[in-house]
Amino acid sequence: MISAEKIPNNVGLSSNKRLQRALEHWQPQYIQWWRDMGPQGFQDYHQVYVRTAVSVDPSGWAHFEYVKLPEYRWGIFLADPVHDRRIGFGDFMGQPVWQEVPGEFRNQLRRLIVTQGDTEPASVEQQRWLGQRCPSLYDLRNLFQVNVEEGRHLWAMVYLLHSYFGRDGRDEAEELLARQSGNRDKPRILDAFNEPIENWLDFFMFTMFTDRDGKSQLLSLSESSLDPLSRTTRFMLTEEAHHMFVGETGIARIVERTCQLLGEAGYSEEVRTLGGIDLPTIQKFINLWFSLSLDLHGNEISTNAASYFGNGLKGRAQEEKWEDHQVSEAYYELDVPAANGIERKAIPMRTAMNEVLRDWYVGDCEAGVQRWNKIFERHGMSDRLRLPDRKFNRGIGMFSSLHFDPSGAPLSAEEWERRKYEWLPAPSDREYLLSIMATPVYEAGKFANYIAPPIRGINRQPVHFEYVRTEA
Ligand SMILES: [Fe+2]
Ligand SMILES: [Fe+2]
Repeated sequence: MISAEKIPNNVGLSSNKRLQRALEHWQPQYIQWWRDMGPQGFQDYHQVYVRTAVSVDPSGWAHFEYVKLPEYRWGIFLADPVHDRRIGFGDFMGQPVWQEVPGEFRNQLRRLIVTQGDTEPASVEQQRWLGQRCPSLYDLRNLFQVNVEEGRHLWAMVYLLHSYFGRDGRDEAEELLARQSGNRDKPRILDAFNEPIENWLDFFMFTMFTDRDGKSQLLSLSESSLDPLSRTTRFMLTEEAHHMFVGETGIARIVERTCQLLGEAGYSEEVRTLGGIDLPTIQKFINLWFSLSLDLHGNEISTNAASYFGNGLKGRAQEEKWEDHQVSEAYYELDVPAANGIERKAIPMRTAMNEVLRDWYVGDCEAGVQRWNKIFERHGMSDRLRLPDRKFNRGIGMFSSLHFDPSGAPLSAEEWERRKYEWLPAPSDREYLLSIMATPVYEAGKFANYIAPPIRGINRQPVHFEYVRTEA
């Protein structure tokens, strides 16, 4: 039995019996999915020090406690309503926002919510083996924190489907548990969510770059005219920030450790002989996960994107920072492939909304990479990490049938095949990473040799705190 107490919520669940029954029906399937496809080996005998969302009050929205993962209290929270909120962009600008789904936009909204919803359980599936190779209890806790919150984000989308889309919504909610990351017959919807995440460099890059695509998408959905969607995604952004913190600081700690090892070896020794992760390998994983995450923003020219914007379903990140919110006359200067290289072409701005969001995303990633590069400066080293050109290794969009190196120089298909592992993780790189991660570190306060400890612990606990404990 689910009670309003068992599902923390601020949506008045106990007074909406129909919705409560629908979620009661879905919840056991969710728990079964979590056990089958969630963190492997950490379901029954481990207690994890995690935060649980208990309200949307900015000063105290979460509390920390030890829980067994299947007993996590996945809740449903919408950010507080904004008084007299008006549609902020597109053709209906200035009208009151919608509390119900308008019939004519039902299919488009359902598609947006399902696509977002599908990414949440997908990432949990992708990361389900990582606990067995963790570099510390601190990192293990962070992994599980991200996992339970992605589970909660699934709940958030399922809440919308059940509340506003009737029968279709209930079917979609079941499908969200039926598709599986990497499954050949019923894969997850988006490619990056079918890639394996088998080592912790993948994981940190994923939370840095792919969770940041989540931030792009959530920012644009939080502008939506459908007010419940806006309020749900606004609160999800609060949790998302921690996921990107995990990714950014995870890589920062690896870079820090690599710099230390290089220093110990007089900057000459191959850092792998010391058990560290060399900078070229780190760069290859940036190249991979950045390019995969660029693809998640969709085609450069998209009539769907134009119609999402025009209909007020999906805005731009931080819509209020733009001057023109109708964007009916404006043009976007887009680089397109041409017979003799790249050509700049003006296209109607609304059809370029995916590219506009991608621009925001690239800027946000760039700032993160600059923060990593400060570590080299501190060590007095001239090495730098960088984002590859956005034409590099694309699987979606105008450049997907062409080949480029990370600086954006065109390559023939033959040269790409011959040289791609200079820029992307090679099987031997992956083997090496698995070899240094084969033995997990489960002792409080200890860290694997390839990563530096964090500067501080979680929720003001010390770094050596027992973030995950085994039940006797
Ligand atoms: Fe999420
Ligand atoms: Fe996330």
